[in-house]
Amino acid sequence: MLTPFHLRQSESGRALAAYLASGKLADLKTLFAEDSQRFERFHLRMHGVLYDFSKQPIDAEVWKCLFGIAREAGLERAREAMFCGERINATEHRAVLHMALRAVEGDRFSVDGVDVLPGVLQVRRRMLAFAEALWADPQVTDVGNIGIGGSDLGPHMAVRALRRFHTGPRVHFVSNVDRAHLDAVLAGCRPESTQFIIASKTFTTAETMRNAEAAKAWVIAGLGGNPEVIARTFAAVSSAPDRAADFGIPSERVFGFEDWVGGRFSVWGPVGCAVAVAIGAAAFEQFLAGAREADRHFRTVPLEQNIPVVSGLIGVYASVFRGLASWAVLPYAQDLDRLPAFLQQADMESNGKGVDRGGAPVGVPTSTVVWGEPGTNGQHAFHQLLHQGSEIIPVDFLAFREPTGSCAAAHRVLFAHAVAQAEALLIGRKRGEVEEEMRAHGASEEEIQRVAPHRTFAGNRPSSFWLWDRLDPRALGQCIALHEHRIFVQGVLLGVYSFDQWGVELGKGLADRIHGNLSAGGVHDAPHDAS
Ligand code: F6P
Repeated sequence: MLTPFHLRQSESGRALAAYLASGKLADLKTLFAEDSQRFERFHLRMHGVLYDFSKQPIDAEVWKCLFGIAREAGLERAREAMFCGERINATEHRAVLHMALRAVEGDRFSVDGVDVLPGVLQVRRRMLAFAEALWADPQVTDVGNIGIGGSDLGPHMAVRALRRFHTGPRVHFVSNVDRAHLDAVLAGCRPESTQFIIASKTFTTAETMRNAEAAKAWVIAGLGGNPEVIARTFAAVSSAPDRAADFGIPSERVFGFEDWVGGRFSVWGPVGCAVAVAIGAAAFEQFLAGAREADRHFRTVPLEQNIPVVSGLIGVYASVFRGLASWAVLPYAQDLDRLPAFLQQADMESNGKGVDRGGAPVGVPTSTVVWGEPGTNGQHAFHQLLHQGSEIIPVDFLAFREPTGSCAAAHRVLFAHAVAQAEALLIGRKRGEVEEEMRAHGASEEEIQRVAPHRTFAGNRPSSFWLWDRLDPRALGQCIALHEHRIFVQGVLLGVYSFDQWGVELGKGLADRIHGNLSAGGVHDAPHDAS
């Protein structure tokens, strides 16, 4: 059982706060100027991943305090508790073992002494055989994944990210209960060549069930009105196989997973079926292999060289100790356009909590607000705020050495922009430089004095830079699993339970009531707030 931990009251947390208050931490530009080895000191590598955090405001004292916090928080013990299948999701009495979904024969994962791997491997084999059959079937032109939240964001993000490896049928995602979403997908499909995967851990989620029923009606109407066609056109991914059976899906097309897999961590198992349909079983195995590398790294590498640990510490250092509540994730790869949305759920549903593990108010900011867009699009939208806004927003850049598109020259431009943005955030623009440039362009002294302050900015803005050789299934698996573990680390440091999501339940219940009121003619007499 993980015990309460209070970051700011811990000895190292207090030392860190006092050090920051003393003003002894030099600014980033000075840290770079004074240490030619800064990059060497502040980057980490793991099987083809480079994580450069030299542009974070860290010196030897901050570093010492951060790892003091990690140790006081019992991070190593908590990590083992998770890998050993302890019920660390204590409010739901569940273990947290999504790592088992990407395990291979010989790995060991158990809950209450029961080895979970045989079940995982058996379902994986069935799911991949099913996915491979769709992948190879020329009669199947389209596959629709109907799911929401963790049953949509992970596979959707991965299918888009791995677009270049796409060799199977077209794969579509329908999540929103707004029928416009399903309508748009169905408009491009034909019932005789479309298969549906209903992805829902609970098989009760209102949006998914409504869309699933609508898709069912569309298929039945399109294939001659016989409801039995569902048995060969629908599959289900769920922890509730009975409900899938009630829907009309035969057991051989139902792929289950256990309650120790949280929805937002579920892409590695049957929820990844749509990914396997798109890229084939072999490439999907590579995706799992990348994640396994991240698991091994996280579990075995000392804290100071451990990417999820360091990136997790950097996150809470920013939010809790420097009051930076927003975090921009900027993939310099168009194919990763859904990564920010995926991380929004992974981070904010996990660590957006109000009470600590003892049930008392946490007292510090928990999850940052996660947002982002692929570069370079974001540069022409919100980077102005990153460079000159009065609030500092830490940024993570993700980039790849090799092009993901067909043009190496365009990729060099893209890559140059990623590096340039990190450099610009660091160095800013000096008043003297601006004045000189304006003078060279013939501006009057009066004009220079008036405009120069607007063109000047201090820099010293923090960023981290993730670099991979190429965006492929293995790299994506590494990337996602490293972030999952970072989120776990942050939950431990913040002292919250990261694997429940009670906050989203209230709105679901209220929506049901309001929907009932609306269906009954209006909400006017119903007991809701006055607005
Ligand atoms: O509403 C939040 C949530 O419970 C997420 O945690 C989950 O990923 C999503 O809904 C979908 O749930 P399900 O897979 O059970 O349909």
